[in-house]
Amino acid sequence: MSVQRVCVVTGAAAGLGHAIVTRFAAAGDAVAIVDRDKDRSEEVLTSLRDSGATAESFPTNVADEDAVILLAAALKDRFGRVDVLVNNAGYASREGSVVDMTRKAWDMTIAVNLTGPFLVSRHLVPLMPPGSAIVNVGTTGAVRAVPETDAYVAAKGGLIALSKAMALSLADRGIRVNVANPGVVVTDEVAKHLDNPRLQKMLERSRPLRAELGRPDEFAAVVEFLAGDGAAYINGTVVNVDGGALC
Ligand SMILES: NC(=O)c1ccc[n+]([C@@H]2O[C@H](COP(=O)([O-])OP(=O)(O)OC[C@H]3O[C@@H](n4cnc5c(N)ncnc54)[C@H](O)[C@@H]3O)[C@@H](O)[C@H]2O)c1
Repeated sequence: MSVQRVCVVTGAAAGLGHAIVTRFAAAGDAVAIVDRDKDRSEEVLTSLRDSGATAESFPTNVADEDAVILLAAALKDRFGRVDVLVNNAGYASREGSVVDMTRKAWDMTIAVNLTGPFLVSRHLVPLMPPGSAIVNVGTTGAVRAVPETDAYVAAKGGLIALSKAMALSLADRGIRVNVANPGVVVTDEVAKHLDNPRLQKMLERSRPLRAELGRPDEFAAVVEFLAGDGAAYINGTVVNVDGGALC
């Protein structure tokens, strides 16, 4: 029998992170739910354990380095190592253009979407053996910018550049780093805003493939692939999961 992998997913209490952690658990991996929302993490933990999974919850704000240091220590205690890290926690701030947004909004957006993945990688990489993988969750908005979300686009663009740098700098440890960029994937949160005129405008170019927008399980399948041995020779790559919207 093969050894159970340990898969850490940030932002796993909702949306895409929930779909990703559920997919790993269904494949028999041990999973760590890392999210700042303690109550929702607890709900996800209960449902995963009810389905027979090996799962733990580590409520953490990924932008807080002291909390991330505690996370790394707790993961080491519980599992001893990390085989897969998915830096998925993030949020699409809508503070507007560079002239409209506040400095505070800029700092917060960079902190969660760019500094968070840096901090979690910094403290978890020492737990990752050769053959491990990191998947960072970006956005197609970092490839083709979305207006009025300047800080978010900048943070995720930075995350793509950081991922490529990490792919090279962690290669000698045998750790691969790739990016999965969602286009519009209909999570519970996205579903609430589908009639928003700005989103409607984006949706006009989001349907080259089919009328239905992306589903969280379809995105999770790509993350699972990038994290697995089937992607052993894929490193520093950006995969857009958008039905062809960027074509
Ligand atoms: N859903 C989409 O269509 C879409 C499109 C482009 C990019 N994304 C990216 O995908 C990722 C997941 O998005 P989603 O749609 O599932 O969002 P979501 O809001 O549904 O879920 C995000 C989860 O991350 C957690 N989180 C947020 N900030 C955190 C922090 N500082 N520390 C720990 N946990 C934190 C939240 O509590 C929540 O559980 C994000 O990085 C987002 O930018 C999503």
